[in-house]
Amino acid sequence: MSDIVRYDRIGDIAVLTADNPPVNALGHAVRVGLVTALDRAVADGARAVVLTCAGRTWHAGADIREFGKPPVDPWLPEVCNRTEACPLPVVAALHGTALGGGLEVAMGAHYRVAVPGTRVGLPEVHLGILPGAGGTQRLPRLAGLDASVDIITTGRHVPAAEALSLGILDRVAEGEPRALGLAFAQDLLAQGAGPRPTRDLPPPEPVDFDALYDRVLKKGRGQLSPATAVRAIQAACELPFEDGLARERALFNELMETDQRKGLIHAFFAERQVSKLPELEGVTARDCEHIGVIGGGTMGAGIATAALLAGLNVTLVEMSKDAAETAKGRIGGNLKGALKRGKITPEAFDHMMETALTLATGPEALTDADVIIEAVFEDMAVKKELFARLDQIARPGAVLATNTSYLDVNEIARATSRPEDVIGLHFFSPAHVMKLLEVVVADRTAPDVVATGFALGKALKKITVRAGVCDGFIGNRILSVYRAAADHMVLDGASPHQIDAALEAFGFAMGPFAVADLAGLDIGWANRKRLAPTRDPRERVPTYADKLCEAGHLGQKTGRGYYIYDGRNRTPNPDVLALIEAEREERGITPREFSDSEIQSTYLAAMVNEAAKVVGDGIARRPLDVDMVLLFGYGFPRYHGGPLKWADMQGLDKVLSKIRKLAETDSFFWQPAPLLEKLVAEGGSFDDLNRAVS
Ligand code: 3HC
Repeated sequence: MSDIVRYDRIGDIAVLTADNPPVNALGHAVRVGLVTALDRAVADGARAVVLTCAGRTWHAGADIREFGKPPVDPWLPEVCNRTEACPLPVVAALHGTALGGGLEVAMGAHYRVAVPGTRVGLPEVHLGILPGAGGTQRLPRLAGLDASVDIITTGRHVPAAEALSLGILDRVAEGEPRALGLAFAQDLLAQGAGPRPTRDLPPPEPVDFDALYDRVLKKGRGQLSPATAVRAIQAACELPFEDGLARERALFNELMETDQRKGLIHAFFAERQVSKLPELEGVTARDCEHIGVIGGGTMGAGIATAALLAGLNVTLVEMSKDAAETAKGRIGGNLKGALKRGKITPEAFDHMMETALTLATGPEALTDADVIIEAVFEDMAVKKELFARLDQIARPGAVLATNTSYLDVNEIARATSRPEDVIGLHFFSPAHVMKLLEVVVADRTAPDVVATGFALGKALKKITVRAGVCDGFIGNRILSVYRAAADHMVLDGASPHQIDAALEAFGFAMGPFAVADLAGLDIGWANRKRLAPTRDPRERVPTYADKLCEAGHLGQKTGRGYYIYDGRNRTPNPDVLALIEAEREERGITPREFSDSEIQSTYLAAMVNEAAKVVGDGIARRPLDVDMVLLFGYGFPRYHGGPLKWADMQGLDKVLSKIRKLAETDSFFWQPAPLLEKLVAEGGSFDDLNRAVS
């Protein structure tokens, strides 16, 4: 028998302990171990069985690395069925996270006990699939329809106390899981209780599942798995148990074949891979307990909030006492949001505001800071002066970070006598909400300073991505190109509103013009002015948006931009269309029709092409780094995996042909990325590069 599942006999009770670090995933060896040990318990004359796991958690699910490979017996559904069919009462003793196949095994058992910190859930929809080992059939029988639809379609983790009240768990008690399971099994034996198969419980009454399916599909913004899971739950209510299982399996297999499944699983692993850099192996980060933040505007206050929420001490520097107080008000507002959502206690709020946060009116207050992050006005002269000053006052070894979005971090570093300590930490606004952090590594940045950037990102619970120095780093550099592609389509005949609608249909949370309204049209305006002096005359840059800004229409904050805002509702601003028409006339452009799919493929081609250049130039180390930047900073739909995963799934030759076709009319803008050409010529993929570098 495989020793991955240990067999112990404690009196009348057989205890099966799975030990497959780190998360006891139910890979093939574990499945074999479980069914073999169950048979042994019966043959051995045991009167009850306790299932438990060693290490930090109960089974956190099927082994995701086995997906896409041919299934090997025994399958997980069989493990659950055989557990349920065991003639001895089987108790699952849970701790940590009982997720996916993990919860399904527990529901195959006859009784479930857990320690208080346990969370249970069926998060398969986040991987583009649905629970495929009876979860959609057994959970409704235990927890009813509403709770099952909620748990299965959102994939949320359910705390033990709630799981107890829903009937998913039978007992929650302090203690060691194995002892808890044994005590429960002994109670059962004392009461003479036998097996209690979940399949024998009555299913919930059916409801209008078509309406439910439509509702869930709409909420998923194009994601298929939650709505498909509704059909499996429907089967639980309408079909005999075995037929329901078969229906679940058929739907599971269908989803397994989709690109959405491939995209979401890519995202799952890339999210974990992104902060693992070979160059940082064995490098120890410097201290990052005391954070200095210079500038208390939206960005600075957001960074300070994120650091406070992570339990760090923050000294915030502003120009004057008044400005510092205003910044404190912003931070207080942010933290009140966290308090309201139950993320922090009132005591923690008071501690953060009164003890962990210090206000100051000059950089001299930062002599003890471990990491100093400037978030002042985006102007090279201002930043250089500030860094020269920091060079004089920061303690030796302190990390000096700039939050610039575009400026040359090498030039900023040269303003100090310690360029090895200088780094870019590019947060995204609002910094206490947005999950992305770009760590911008300049030519002379020391490895332990890079490691400190990653350590800080981890402390702040950010998806932290390494980027090299260039205009816009990874994200904003790619954004400027696909945004330009959208602008070109507007000049040539599409409306901003049609473009937004087409991209929202692709799965973006918001189209680029709605995003511009949200960020403030003055940002793009300032950027266009900044780039104007060095702009190549062949670049096509529309000016109609400047006219909106000149008229004081800056987007959501003024109530009018590409759209007119009434509270949260938006309607297209007709003035924009008039301005666009005037500009087309001035440029002698005859507008043409664009289909939604042409808009999507053109926008994505621009994104992929620039992303390939960013990887080819070494600004991003791996394609997956770009994917994570676009996912976590720019609203790219997770179920497409990221632009380069999406390109792989489309076929790189197809994407390159599209770019070449577009180059026939604008060869300046549509210059194919050499890396893309190389991959197509060699029959390679971006995923090959991920594997080569990771
Ligand atoms: N299969 C394979 N590897 C897994 C895994 C799984 N189900 N879950 C986690 N891992 C790996 C991670 O990739 C990571 O590997 P690495 O160290 O090489 O990067 C390692 O385990 C630790 O994971 P985390 O870094 O995520 O650790 P955390 O403590 O932060 O989180 C967790 C633990 C909450 C369990 C989180 O890993 C998680 O959410 N895992 C996925 C859970 C899930 O989706 N389960 C359903 C699987 S699908 C299924 O069961 C199908 C069935 O219905 C048939």
